[in-house]
Amino acid sequence: MPRQSLFTQGVRMTHLIPEKLAGKNKRIYIRPLRASDFGSWRESQAAMAAPRSEFDVPPAVKPAGRTRKTFRGILKANKSLLRDGAGCFWGVFLNDNRLIGRIGLMNITRDAYQSAEITYRIFNPFWGWGYAQEAVKACLRLAFTELGLNRIEAYIEPVNLASVRTAEAGGFKKEGLARKKLFTRKAWRNVLVYAAVCSDHGFKLNPPEL
Ligand SMILES: CC(C)(COP(=O)(O)OP(=O)(O)OC[C@H]1O[C@@H](n2cnc3c(N)ncnc32)[C@H](O)[C@@H]1OP(=O)(O)O)[C@@H](O)C(=O)NCCC(=O)NCCS
Repeated sequence: MPRQSLFTQGVRMTHLIPEKLAGKNKRIYIRPLRASDFGSWRESQAAMAAPRSEFDVPPAVKPAGRTRKTFRGILKANKSLLRDGAGCFWGVFLNDNRLIGRIGLMNITRDAYQSAEITYRIFNPFWGWGYAQEAVKACLRLAFTELGLNRIEAYIEPVNLASVRTAEAGGFKKEGLARKKLFTRKAWRNVLVYAAVCSDHGFKLNPPEL
């Protein structure tokens, strides 16, 4: 299939995602999940401790549901996002190949925007080791190079200090407050708007061919 222009809406991204991308200090790497990760995925779900903050959620899948079929469903959903060019999710892995979290880009908008929204989660047994900020930096590198994006946004509740600090440590800058942007935990919440822009991170993007 010919490579589509990165500026086109709905670009197929399957061929743009590298096999794996190491964090800067090489303690972690990010890569798409694949069928052979079933065991790591099941172990990571089982190892999660009870939620440690209001932003931490219990494992998405109950023990009885942690089957190959469920995992295939997750892979399928990830693939279809990639195919449609709407988003992409990666596993965050330690160098010993343990799965410790996930990171992704959602709501990818092409044409004159070339922007996306970042989302991240490190499973709670692995908090506090700097893994999130390393994964965020790797994700930005990928966004500003292979994926040809210009601006990545993060929407963060002001009281989620761990996430605020992760975004700042990853090189995001605060731009303001979006009122009642997010419906979560039974209410519409204000969120801080953080953004990382390609040129601030030393990458150069060719202008859109519109
Ligand atoms: C936010 C999250 C990904 C951080 O993961 P982590 O691997 O523990 O983060 P890091 O170790 O890379 O730390 C990043 C920064 O946050 C700070 N930090 C971490 N936990 C913190 C806490 N509870 N309170 C205040 N700061 C905290 C660290 O000190 C570090 O800042 P520094 O470099 O200035 O010292 C993790 O807490 C998480 O998954 N939370 C639940 C999901 C979530 O909130 N996702 C974001 C939604 S917007």
